Amino acid sequence: MKKEALEVLKNRRSIRKFQSRQISAEELDTVLEAGTYAPTAGGRQAPVIVAVQDAETVAALDAMNAKVMGNASAHPYYGAPTILLVMAPEEDAQGELDCSAIGGNLLNAAYAVGLGSCWIHRSKEMFESEEGKALLKKWGLPETMRSVCSIALGYADCPHPDAAPRKSGYIIKV
Ligand SMILES: Cc1cc2nc3c(=O)[nH]c(=O)nc-3n(C[C@H](O)[C@H](O)[C@H](O)COP(=O)(O)O)c2cc1C
Repeated sequence: MKKEALEVLKNRRSIRKFQSRQISAEELDTVLEAGTYAPTAGGRQAPVIVAVQDAETVAALDAMNAKVMGNASAHPYYGAPTILLVMAPEEDAQGELDCSAIGGNLLNAAYAVGLGSCWIHRSKEMFESEEGKALLKKWGLPETMRSVCSIALGYADCPHPDAAPRKSGYIIKV
C-alpha cells in the first residue's frame, strides 16, 4: 500500500512495539533507496546506511544501546527485527547533517510502505565502544565511521499513535 507524500509527512509516527516477523526484502529495499535520495552536502553522498537483519547482530545492537543507556535489561529497539544505522566519516564536517536528512527520508519511506519505525538515540556511543569498532571492521567500514542515526524498523504491533498537538509559534512568517 502506497500513501500520498503529504499524508506520509504528517501522519508518520514513532512506533515502539514491533512484530517479530521480518519485513520483506522489497519493503527494505524501497526504504533504503528512499534514504539514498536524501540531500547531502555538496551532493557527496558521504554517509552509508547499514541495514541489519541478522537476528544475532540485531540482539547485539539492542544490548549495546541498552548499555549506553545504563539499563542493561532495556530493549531500546523495541523488538524490531531490522535496525538501520546511518553513519558518516568522523572527518566529514557535514556528516551529521547528511545522516539526519537521510534518517528523515528512511522514517517517512517506512511509513509510506506500511512499516513502523522509530529513530533511536545513542548509536554514536555504541560505535565508540570496542564492540562497535569490531562490528565496523566486520562490515568493512573504517573505524572513523560515526553512527548518527539508528532506526528500529518492522511491522507495528500497536495501534497507530496520535500526533502531539503542534506547539504555538512553531512557524514564523516574515
Ligand atoms: C534525534 C532523535 C532521537 C530520538 N531518540 C529516541 C529514542 O532513543 N527512543 C525513542 O523511543 N524515541 C526516540 N526518538 C523519537 C521521538 O521521541 C519522537 O520522534 C517524538 O516523540 C515525536 O513523536 P513522533 O515521531 O511519533 O512524531 C528520537 C527522535 C529523534 C529525532
